[in-house]
Amino acid sequence: MASTKSASPRRVSGVDELRRAVRASRRRGTVAFVPTMGAIHDGHLSLVRQAKRSSRFVVASIFVNPLQFGPTEDYRRYPRPVRRDRALFAAAGVDLLWEPRVEDVYPPGDRTRVHVSELTEVLEGASRPGHFEGVTTVVMRLLGAVQPDVLWLGQKDAQQAIVLERMCADLLLPVRVRRGATVRENDGLAMSSRNAYLGAAERQQAVALSQGLASARVLLGAGERSAAKLAAAIRREWEGYPLVREDYVAVVDAATLRPVRRVEGRVLIAVAARVGPARLIDNIEWGPK
Ligand code: PAJ
Repeated sequence: MASTKSASPRRVSGVDELRRAVRASRRRGTVAFVPTMGAIHDGHLSLVRQAKRSSRFVVASIFVNPLQFGPTEDYRRYPRPVRRDRALFAAAGVDLLWEPRVEDVYPPGDRTRVHVSELTEVLEGASRPGHFEGVTTVVMRLLGAVQPDVLWLGQKDAQQAIVLERMCADLLLPVRVRRGATVRENDGLAMSSRNAYLGAAERQQAVALSQGLASARVLLGAGERSAAKLAAAIRREWEGYPLVREDYVAVVDAATLRPVRRVEGRVLIAVAARVGPARLIDNIEWGPK
């Protein structure tokens, strides 16, 4: 039963209950899954809308996964506007919302971790030790519980998508991974639950990330192929935004995440910066697929 118009989609928390609800729908068509940590915005909702176009039944989850946060990161203060999230998911047409408790995902006695090597050691992985092990471990469990046909992920977290695509391929999981384009605010800032941490001045300057990437795209269009020059252009753009402190600016191969000196195949230009209390990331991909 689709629940497009109700104030809240059908909601479950236990794994058995989830499985029963999904099993009943599986017979009627493909099941798509959109995992989230809540604080829902249009980026999440665009994944739901795309999922609905190609699948009969859309499951979303909200789980702020403690394992993917470092000890000094924002696990405790991560926004949790659950009522609002439920209403937004209902309006977007989520059929089933899974809100597991920590013990549903990490049962007592849990000893299992999923580790993807190399791809997780660079960029976000270098800045946030243990982060991707938390992501792969939780997504493996969520997939084990939901058993979707299609997993929807956002390009906003490009490295996460690459790591999870690798995990699904390596572990022979019977799931298709699809990526949805990054959804942006009017000024270009990539939508993120963490944008809520920004004060007014910081919010204005956060546009530096997408502006830097836009300058790099202009240079690429004009024929520039030097990774160093592209990175320099992004940093030059950031000089106009004193509240933006670089974490990294990287031009890497879009499949292997290894740094490139020249843009030849498809590249990922990934940036991360601190803006006040928030750590923000953004990226563009460029070149033949
Ligand atoms: P979260 O940050 O809530 O994001 C959930 C999904 O929404 C991810 O696939 C993310 O890439 C996508 N997303 C976020 N912002 C987006 C935007 N502006 N445009 C398009 N897609 C966007 O990513 C996570 O949660 C977690 O790591 C998770 C995969 C749920 C595992 O805990």
